[in-house]
Amino acid sequence: MSNPTCLKIHMAKILLVSGSVFGAALLTADEIETALNDASHTVERPDPQTIEALTDESVDYLVVCTSTTGSGDVPDDLLPLYTGLRTEYPRITHLKYVVVALGDSSYDHFCGAGVTMDESLADLGAQQIKAPLKLDALEVTEPEEIAPAWVVAAIDEHIAS
Ligand SMILES: Cc1cc2nc3c(=O)[nH]c(=O)nc-3n(C[C@H](O)[C@H](O)[C@H](O)COP(=O)(O)O)c2cc1C
Repeated sequence: MSNPTCLKIHMAKILLVSGSVFGAALLTADEIETALNDASHTVERPDPQTIEALTDESVDYLVVCTSTTGSGDVPDDLLPLYTGLRTEYPRITHLKYVVVALGDSSYDHFCGAGVTMDESLADLGAQQIKAPLKLDALEVTEPEEIAPAWVVAAIDEHIAS
């Protein structure tokens, strides 16, 4: 008897959070959401962005898309989640994650917020599936054109591995 053709469709439940001051990272997150939906994944964007959403064990992947403000600082809209990670130590060992970091290499702490988020998640045992994508505003004027395909590829490659 011949084997039936087996079509495997992998869909993941993905949590998407963003940190933005002037809108570039927010627009990039919007485009990431669209691309993930187009790739048949389920995307949730928690409102408010707090650690409660991260502790939902039905979530497969976390995508963080953040710019950097101040001197390597996390934008205000991502601050409750970042502070929660650093002060409440939530249980997030089930999470696999990627970080998209928007920054500007003319600043001392290039992509500091993305680096900080990456370290905070890893410190709590979440699994980084790919090193952060760092997008330098001096070189990349439209991060929303680059990040979505990178995120979809990172997650789909991880699912397939
Ligand atoms: C006041 C200010 C401070 C910034 N500080 C940093 C920084 O410390 N490190 C960095 O990589 N980029 C820094 N940036 C650059 C922004 O992160 C970058 O322009 C980003 O694309 C802005 O995204 P947004 O529109 O989502 O806020 C700073 C920008 C401004 C205006």
